[in-house]
Amino acid sequence: MAGQRELQVRSIPLVTGGDDPADPPRGGPSGLPEALLEVATALNSGLDREEVFGRIAAQLQRLVPFTALVIGRVDADARVVTPVFAQGGDQELAPRIPFGEGLTGRAAESGEVVVYNSDDPPDTAEGAPPVPDRRMLVLPLVGPDGVEGTLTLFRDGSGQPAWRDDEVHLARLFAAQAQVAVHNAELWSAAEERAKRLAAMNGILQAASGSLDVAAICRAYEQGLRDLIPFEGAAIAMRTAPGVVSSIWQSENLAGGLGEPLPPGSAPLWAIRHRRGYVIRDIRTDLRFGHHPGLQESGAAAVVAVPLVARGQAFGAIGLGHGTPGLYDERTLALLEEVGRQLAAALDTAVLHQEVLERKADQSALLGKLISAQEEERQSIANDLHDDTVQVLAAALVQLDHIGATTPEQQPELLRKLRSTLRSAMESARKLMFDLRPPVLDAEGLVAALQQQLDLLRTEAGVSVELDCELEERLGPTTETVLFRSLQEALRNVRKHARAANVRLELRREAEDQAVAVLSDDGVGFDVAEMLPKALAGGHLGLHALLERIDLAGGKVDLRSGPGEGTRLRVSVPADLGGVPK
Ligand SMILES: Nc1ncnc2c1ncn2[C@@H]1O[C@H](COP(=O)(O)OP(=O)(O)O)[C@@H](O)[C@H]1O
Ligand SMILES: [Mg+2]
Repeated sequence: MAGQRELQVRSIPLVTGGDDPADPPRGGPSGLPEALLEVATALNSGLDREEVFGRIAAQLQRLVPFTALVIGRVDADARVVTPVFAQGGDQELAPRIPFGEGLTGRAAESGEVVVYNSDDPPDTAEGAPPVPDRRMLVLPLVGPDGVEGTLTLFRDGSGQPAWRDDEVHLARLFAAQAQVAVHNAELWSAAEERAKRLAAMNGILQAASGSLDVAAICRAYEQGLRDLIPFEGAAIAMRTAPGVVSSIWQSENLAGGLGEPLPPGSAPLWAIRHRRGYVIRDIRTDLRFGHHPGLQESGAAAVVAVPLVARGQAFGAIGLGHGTPGLYDERTLALLEEVGRQLAAALDTAVLHQEVLERKADQSALLGKLISAQEEERQSIANDLHDDTVQVLAAALVQLDHIGATTPEQQPELLRKLRSTLRSAMESARKLMFDLRPPVLDAEGLVAALQQQLDLLRTEAGVSVELDCELEERLGPTTETVLFRSLQEALRNVRKHARAANVRLELRREAEDQAVAVLSDDGVGFDVAEMLPKALAGGHLGLHALLERIDLAGGKVDLRSGPGEGTRLRVSVPADLGGVPK
């Protein structure tokens, strides 16, 4: 039908041009060797890819005139053509052309030359170019392993001649040779890119090596990445607490959100959950992976992101953004994955180190507090010794002197007094010993020792006490000491602060391996949350020492109280903490 588009896919036999004397190829067979020689020379003189491509364009122009040319790289696995070089024409290059799509995609898929020669506006045909007055010639660059690239020639504008058979023929012969040049130039640029990549990685690793500072590592990686991948904004997020992923680092132009947890639905969370990176052409329209806080506000369109994985755990993500839609592709993703692996290892090490440091600091703070609690206990023992025992003994000495200076008749009465003074000194000393470590704790065990403490509370403070014990056997020696010390302090507090009428202590085992003690009083009570920091500041360490002792023992404390509500302390610790009996 006349006036219809003429879309052809042709195979042209490889014969030297000009065999048909009726239709001698333009440019002539003599032009071809020259052109090929030029290309080969360009390649051999070690020119870079751009220059080799430039030579190819110039030489082909001499053989087969065109208005524009695009060289594409074919990724057979991904089944896409990526334009890598363009000359002439001002149409926007598609960043990636899928196999089978458009004339270039068809040529890449079929390995056949595609000729489009119609001047009709192609409105309905699949694969027809969207520009009127366009003629296209697409030459697949076929290597030993298949199609490696495409050479797409345009004749744009009215009045441009159609592609003639002899021109197609010549271009095809040229393409067969140019393929080698393109192939080598690609290899060359890949090698160069790899060298650059290695240098950049080296730089990164050197800058970050030995650093255990998260911010310094992130900064070093940003610098190194700049040599590898173009980006305008970069962000790194990491798990900072169980179930919380926060933004830990951002390049300077990204505003806000730093240090804050990522909101649900953030794309980095997707990368972490699926342990997979992704490339997005335009985040303003593509929300498949979620939102990109930070990058979005910075005006980024293209985004590439990968998860950070170390020791089998995806614990964070890094994302790069750029204002040019479609800037990133599978290659960028592979490159970022490579860097991501190094970054993940560096961050993981730094975080581990940080945790070790924090634990050390925690432990020394704890130790400090325990020591001061101990010191306080010693201080109070020293006070007791002075108040009771030493004073009483001093009084006894005075009485003894007195006896020596008096008449025999007065002596029995004085001796009686002295005797009672000494007895009271002995009582004080015994009480002190008892407070320090009651012998009954070792001899008869926790229950007997606590019973003694309760009896003391009853006789000395007039409190009604009750012991409800379900323990049938003795607990481990360390467990008994830990529980005794804790309850001793709690009972001391009842005596000092509670003004209670009734005290009840329950002892039992729970869940096989836990020993539980519950002490309740019906005294004045106190506001626990308010009191604890106050007590610490005021140097009252009884309760703090109790909490820390139980924590160290791997146990749990539940302390409930309120003004006018009495106090209830529940302590649970492993029933056998080990240790040797005294
Ligand atoms: N059973 C209790 N009843 C009332 N108040 C208590 C009780 N136990 C503790 N408290 C309050 O908690 C504070 C802190 O106790 P603690 O750390 O043992 O220090 P201290 O006994 O040296 O004051 C006490 O000063 C007291 O106000
Ligand atoms: Mg106390």
